[in-house]
Amino acid sequence: MAAVDVSPGAAFGSAFGLGGRAAQLRTRLAGRLKLGLHVTLTRYGLCRDLAEPLQTPKAKIPIVVRRLEERDLAPLFTLAPDKASLEEQLEVAWRRAFIEKGAQRGYVAIDARNGTPCYVQWLFGAVDNEFDEHVGGFPVLERHQALLENAYTPPAYRGLGIMSEAMALIAGHAAWISAREVLTFVDQYNVASLKGCQRAGFYPRLLHHRTRFAFGTITHDSFEDLPAGDPRRTARF
Ligand SMILES: CC(C)(COP(=O)(O)OP(=O)(O)OC[C@H]1O[C@@H](n2cnc3c(N)ncnc32)[C@H](O)[C@@H]1OP(=O)(O)O)[C@@H](O)C(=O)NCCC(=O)NCCS
Repeated sequence: MAAVDVSPGAAFGSAFGLGGRAAQLRTRLAGRLKLGLHVTLTRYGLCRDLAEPLQTPKAKIPIVVRRLEERDLAPLFTLAPDKASLEEQLEVAWRRAFIEKGAQRGYVAIDARNGTPCYVQWLFGAVDNEFDEHVGGFPVLERHQALLENAYTPPAYRGLGIMSEAMALIAGHAAWISAREVLTFVDQYNVASLKGCQRAGFYPRLLHHRTRFAFGTITHDSFEDLPAGDPRRTARF
């Protein structure tokens, strides 16, 4: 089965049909309205040095990691109708849009007991800088750097330590694109994700400040290195 390095739009066109696409547009519109006239956010940029030894954390269920395939999309991104919060719908809509924009090199964790996809995340290298610039909100990667983005565990699989193990394993694949260090960005208030990253060997290295105006139509991003000795570099989440 082919990995989902698909042309934009192809995957969800077939996996969700027109009804799914219309629902996604409605959700994204609601997300834009929620942004309002002016909003600021701060994300930690966390880094893992692949040369540093790491004991891979173990999830509470057996998982295996492989490349994302088209057949994974429906089980990963189908929410129970009328039960999911707007925040959850936005998480899914954002990832669907991310694939439609042409995101490459997605990875999934699979529940080894029954073959269900239970985690997804994308790995980028310097070769993907043009795509990252198009999506916005990421620094330009140097050749020795990789970026892990858009981690998502479907609600039914949360709290089982899947993120920590899967992310540690997927980060290891960055060596295949010649990276020595891996970055990832997490909102300062997303404790579950910050904890998952830290257990996967990532530590705060920089801050990403984002300001959005006029319902997210105008965006300004800036990146700030955390100075050596800054207590946030060694914070435990
Ligand atoms: C963030 C997310 C990927 C975590 O997935 P997960 O597989 O449930 O993560 P884990 O089970 O490895 O849990 C990570 C840590 O967060 C903790 N945690 C889980 N939910 C939590 C919550 N609501 N509040 C605080 N801590 C929480 C877990 O106990 C665990 O901590 P520990 O290592 O000290 O035990 C998942 O919640 C998700 O998909 N959220 C929506 C999308 C999102 O925020 N993605 C991250 C983008 S950067």
